[in-house]
Amino acid sequence: MSIAKKEYKRITTKTLVDMKNKGEKISMLTAYDYTMAKIVDGSGIDVVLVGDSASNVMAGHETTLPITLDQMIYHAASVVRGIDRSLVVVDLPFGSYQSDPKKALRSAIRIMKESGAHAVKLEGGKEIKESIKRILNAGIPVMGHLGLTPQSIYKFGTYTVRAKEEQEAEKLIEDALLLEKTGCFAIVIEKIPAKLAKEIASRLTIPIIGIGAGNGVDGQVLVTHDMIGMTHEFNPRFLRRYLDLYNEMTNAFSQYIQDVKNGDFPSDKEQY
Ligand code: KIV
Repeated sequence: MSIAKKEYKRITTKTLVDMKNKGEKISMLTAYDYTMAKIVDGSGIDVVLVGDSASNVMAGHETTLPITLDQMIYHAASVVRGIDRSLVVVDLPFGSYQSDPKKALRSAIRIMKESGAHAVKLEGGKEIKESIKRILNAGIPVMGHLGLTPQSIYKFGTYTVRAKEEQEAEKLIEDALLLEKTGCFAIVIEKIPAKLAKEIASRLTIPIIGIGAGNGVDGQVLVTHDMIGMTHEFNPRFLRRYLDLYNEMTNAFSQYIQDVKNGDFPSDKEQY
């Protein structure tokens, strides 16, 4: 059980800012369903992200683009039912906020009303400022997401490290400062050089949560299915695997199949 679990009964956006001020690192993992949310929340995680990575992990799509708002709401509502303590943040999916601030607000309101989540996350900086403002004005907390933003994968053309060049690094800093000024309570920064991420974390008063952004930030996020080794084809340098569930599960399923075929399951004790 984490140290934070004893200290904070319920995590709010304010708790995260307090953690940053105290130098206490923030832990964040993804969940897309009730059972996983219950385990992750019970372990003492600070933030549960209902990421649009559900598009890859749950639905098997190549990118995060196909997942719909209705599907995100289904995942988010399932997660919220499993949560007692963590802050639940939900990704606004591709196409639900970029084109028009009014549409962005409608999408965010649907997520909050229909899932019971606590905040939304949007990818991008200056380009989506008006959407962020409108959502914030309705009293909905917003987490930003900069760096490698997977909803823009067709613009980038590759999943390699972002902001290695000075011009992109400067734009990233400007965007981070703008998101803070606009009122975001935290920002996820994905796959950028550790030195740049550390500089951003030191210049901003809101928490910076990194994925593939080094250890100089205020917290870390990973996709749960990757860190417990349920997925095994995705092997970026930043990923630490804490379990090898792909092989553990394959062995368990093989054993079950063998037991059924051999007539060893169920035994006398396993029947009525
Ligand atoms: O969708 C997601 O899981 C995310 C994390 C990778 C930060 O946005």
